[in-house]
This record gives sequence, C-alpha cells and structure tokens, in this order.
Amino acid sequence: MSVKEVLRMGHPFLRKVAQPVKEPLSAEIQALIVDLRDTMQARNGAGLAAPQIGSPWRVVIYGTGSPNPRYPEAPIIRETVLINPVLEPIGSDAQTGWEGCLSVPGLRGEVTRWQRVDVRAMDQNGNMIQRQLDGFEARVVQHECDHLDGVLFPQRLASAAKFGYTEELVNSGLISATPS
Ligand code: NI
Repeated sequence: MSVKEVLRMGHPFLRKVAQPVKEPLSAEIQALIVDLRDTMQARNGAGLAAPQIGSPWRVVIYGTGSPNPRYPEAPIIRETVLINPVLEPIGSDAQTGWEGCLSVPGLRGEVTRWQRVDVRAMDQNGNMIQRQLDGFEARVVQHECDHLDGVLFPQRLASAAKFGYTEELVNSGLISATPS
C-alpha cells in the first residue's frame, strides 16, 4: 500500500502537460497505477490523475466500488484506469454540476461539462478500450483528463459566484451535506 501526498492547487506541477505513456507498459507505470488506486481510495476520491501525485504520465483512475462518502448522491462507478485517454464529446448537450478535487481541498464549484463523451484509452493491461459515457461518469472523466493538460476545475467555473468552501455552500443550501 502506497498512499502518496496529493499536490494542491498552486503547486506548479499541477499546471504541466503530462506525457504520453509508451507501450508496453513498464513496471514504473504499473507501480503508478497501484499508487493512484491506493491514494484515491485512502482519500475517498472519485478519481485521481497521475500529476496529482507528482507523476508526469498521462494516466488517470476513477470509480468507486461502493457509495463514495465525498459524493453520496453519485452513482457507483466501476474502477477504471485510462492511459493516454482521448475524449470527444458526443453531441452538443452540456451539464452543469458541482465538482470538488483532492488538489483543491475544502472547496466546491459549479462547472459545465459535456453531457456525453466518447473516450478511447489503454487500460492497465495495455488493451485499447472505448466507452461512451454519460452524466456523472462523463463529468468525472472530463475532470480527470483536464488534470493531464494542467487544468484544474476552478479554471472552468460556470460562474465565480458558484464557488466556495464546502461548509459555507452546505450552510447556504447550495449543496447537500458532504465531507470535503
Ligand atoms: Ni481533480
């Protein structure tokens, strides 16, 4: 078990563009996937991207095997590893919803994302996968893939008025009670 420190907004590494992973997958990448999984689970994240734990590679993990205490109203999503992911919107529908990030602790903000996306990537076994995602899962993947391009959710706020400390947003009734 290797729970890593999660870098916080303001750390310059989070603004870097991550590098493509080469095939076949190296022992370094396999170890990175274990660290991402351990760290995401220890912190109850809905997802985690390699740059958040100081790794330069285009790798993300997301999903929860059980209801997530940080996102109690979200559906359960199977754990998925995406290596070198490529996203394309399906159609032009958008969804606006609240997001948090382990690199932006204690804060939530409202972000507009594509409603549906097509994602192509390599999985942890080096196999190419393609999925059509909708709703919350599509949101999580767009958020995680943004990390690979050095983008954090506060750069994508739908409105600066819909951004704040989780506690205050709960007190004001904008979001439901949830740990940060
Ligand atoms: Ni994040």
